[in-house]
Amino acid sequence: MSSRKILITGGAGFIGSHVVRLFVNKYPNYTIINLDKLTYAGNLENLKDIEKKPNYHFEHGDILDIEFLNTVFSKHQIDGVVHLAAESHVDRSLHNPTEFANTNIIGTLNLLRAAQTAWKGNFENKRFYHISTDEVYGSAEHGGFFTEETPIDPRSPYSASKASSDHFVSAYYNSFGLPTLISRCSNNYGPFHFPEKLIPLMINNIINNKPLPVYGKGENIRDWLFVEDHARAIDSIFHKGKVGEVYNIGGNNEWKNIDLVNLLCHIMDKKLNRAEGTSQKLITHVTDRPGHDLRYAIDASKLISETGWRPDVTFEVGLEKTVDWYLANTTWLNNVTSGEYLKYYNNMYQGR
Ligand code: NAD
Ligand code: TYD
Repeated sequence: MSSRKILITGGAGFIGSHVVRLFVNKYPNYTIINLDKLTYAGNLENLKDIEKKPNYHFEHGDILDIEFLNTVFSKHQIDGVVHLAAESHVDRSLHNPTEFANTNIIGTLNLLRAAQTAWKGNFENKRFYHISTDEVYGSAEHGGFFTEETPIDPRSPYSASKASSDHFVSAYYNSFGLPTLISRCSNNYGPFHFPEKLIPLMINNIINNKPLPVYGKGENIRDWLFVEDHARAIDSIFHKGKVGEVYNIGGNNEWKNIDLVNLLCHIMDKKLNRAEGTSQKLITHVTDRPGHDLRYAIDASKLISETGWRPDVTFEVGLEKTVDWYLANTTWLNNVTSGEYLKYYNNMYQGR
């Protein structure tokens, strides 16, 4: 196995930490450099089990700092990039779109520039892999599935910023020949998911007997994929994907929010030895999210046929693993939900 020096941005976040763990363990000959600003969503506790491995390094910094990026590229002689660093929560993007434009668009452009500067037109064995989202396609509310040919139609400030970053990545491929790859995945769930997102938020609130805020009627549909399956797909695309291409990633696992929340209530009642129906009573329908995309649904057949990747974890098994992880990691949960986050949460749901 050849040795490579791979920069993973956002490696202290939810998906990034699973990608870092997979690469560090699976490729002992690679050097993995995790670059992360450690925003509210980044947490080095997510990487405790691998932080002492000799092929793992951490660089604390901001993708908005181009000098810092240039230094990291030359110091570590980076030859591959897996770019996950981003502001990732739709609700926050409605309140602070500028931060999303800065991190997601300008930050991505900075990374492209740093790679271009470092690689100086020598693209042999180089890869710049940008992790995007199915949300750039808009809402699949008239049926069908998003394919890689579906027109880009972002609806939220978050998805608009991700779509824009995708365009910059494609522009660097077309204009300068930078060897880029893009993937667009559906909603992830699993351990280390920050509890502002639907599944961990509901688990945390059930544990604490707090209301379960379902936006609107709860009829919006998401296509859920276990995070370790996403990390394996990223591994497949990084190693087997064709440069210049886009790959959709999804688990073919659509759920209406209200059905998913009811299922979680059922699982949690059993796990917490509470009478069936106890958690369900906490469900509270709150004011809908503005511009709330009705449905996301991914066609991942290109990825499956080109790389042989398939999701391994059924939703039943994945949800159970996830719930068990949160119940076994209440210190992690309490740490990330106290302080600034608690203020944000109370603000967010006040009067909704
Ligand atoms: P996350 O919010 O959990 O983590 C983001 C990470 O990026 C954090 O560690 C944070 O500290 C870091 N970061 C933020 N701004 C930074 C900056 N300016 N400089 C350096 N680091 C910075 O996000 P996630 O859910 O793990 O998502 C990772 C990527 O995957 C994102 O690009 C997101 O758009 C994409 N994605 C997420 C999902 C999902 O369901 N969560 C689905 C598809 C695609
Ligand atoms: P989220 O986890 O924020 O992911 P995304 O908006 O990127 O799909 O939300 C998933 C779905 O759950 C989405 O339809 C919004 C809904 N939702 C709620 O009903 N209540 C909540 O408290 C949250 C966070 C989300």
